[in-house]
Amino acid sequence: MVIPNLKLNTGASIPQVGLGTWMLTDEKECKDAVTSALEIGYPHIDTAQAYHNEQFVGEVMKASGIARKDIFITTKIDVDNMGYRLEDSFNKSLKKLQTDYVDLLLLHFPMTMYRRPAWPRMEEIYKSGRAKNIGVSNYMINHLEELLAECEVRPAVNQFEMHVFLQSPELVDFCKQQGIVVEAYSPLARGRRMDDPTLVAIAKKHKKTSAQIMIRWCIEMGAVTIPKSAHKDRIAENFEVFDFKLDKADLKMLKTLDQDFRVSWDPTHVP
Ligand SMILES: NC(=O)c1ccc[n+]([C@@H]2O[C@H](COP(=O)([O-])OP(=O)(O)OC[C@H]3O[C@@H](n4cnc5c(N)ncnc54)[C@H](OP(=O)(O)O)[C@@H]3O)[C@@H](O)[C@H]2O)c1
Repeated sequence: MVIPNLKLNTGASIPQVGLGTWMLTDEKECKDAVTSALEIGYPHIDTAQAYHNEQFVGEVMKASGIARKDIFITTKIDVDNMGYRLEDSFNKSLKKLQTDYVDLLLLHFPMTMYRRPAWPRMEEIYKSGRAKNIGVSNYMINHLEELLAECEVRPAVNQFEMHVFLQSPELVDFCKQQGIVVEAYSPLARGRRMDDPTLVAIAKKHKKTSAQIMIRWCIEMGAVTIPKSAHKDRIAENFEVFDFKLDKADLKMLKTLDQDFRVSWDPTHVP
């Protein structure tokens, strides 16, 4: 199966679907999930310092025997490490992940006091080759404008909450205009609205599940996405999204689901 990639502004490619690992803090649960994902063919794993599972992800990657270049790995600098500890914390992440580079390093949140001085530190890590791409997470348009006005290295990615119930078209358009790849987190809205009648109808039409429709919608929007599951059958289900397409009528119906429904933290009013 050929997994679609998107081009980043560094020239690198990012696979459009990865496994999210938030809440996979139990060692066995995390290792089982990541092992399943790699076996199924996921080429991309999303972790973070704040998820307390980089060690488990690193051990599974190592044990998998898959060449390092064939796994796209993202980690994120925790809010507590965005100050003078940034570099040190990143070195610890590399150690836990048992690798000498990550494919993508993100600032996890636009902390008011810390985000501006943090970016030059990210740029240094990028220039050293230890992060092949750098980007941000939970940045709204105002945060991105501030960063773009000051940066030397432009962010390659913005990872934020995006799903059919929170479509954020202005932010998506802004990122695209600026050459920043959109990465949709919580693409399943944490499973809270799987029984929405519109989703169910479109799923029935394509002989797919609501989860698969939600993930396919992210792909059709030109985003990367990282659904999380702790269960092998769902991890497989969430990856079976490359053998169908949503048509114009589906997309029109899905547009009506945009209800500003948020399941994660809201960075909208972070000054
Ligand atoms: N940058 C940030 O601030 C940020 C914030 C939030 C998330 N993220 C990233 O994005 C990833 C995904 O977001 P998320 O974990 O918040 O939520 P999500 O992927 O939208 O949903 C995960 C939930 O949906 C359930 N689920 C998974 N597949 C399913 C299926 N096929 N059918 C029914 N239910 C299913 C999972 O349960 P089971 O596990 O029991 O299957 C879990 O409860 C995270 O894991 C993390 O890597 C980043």
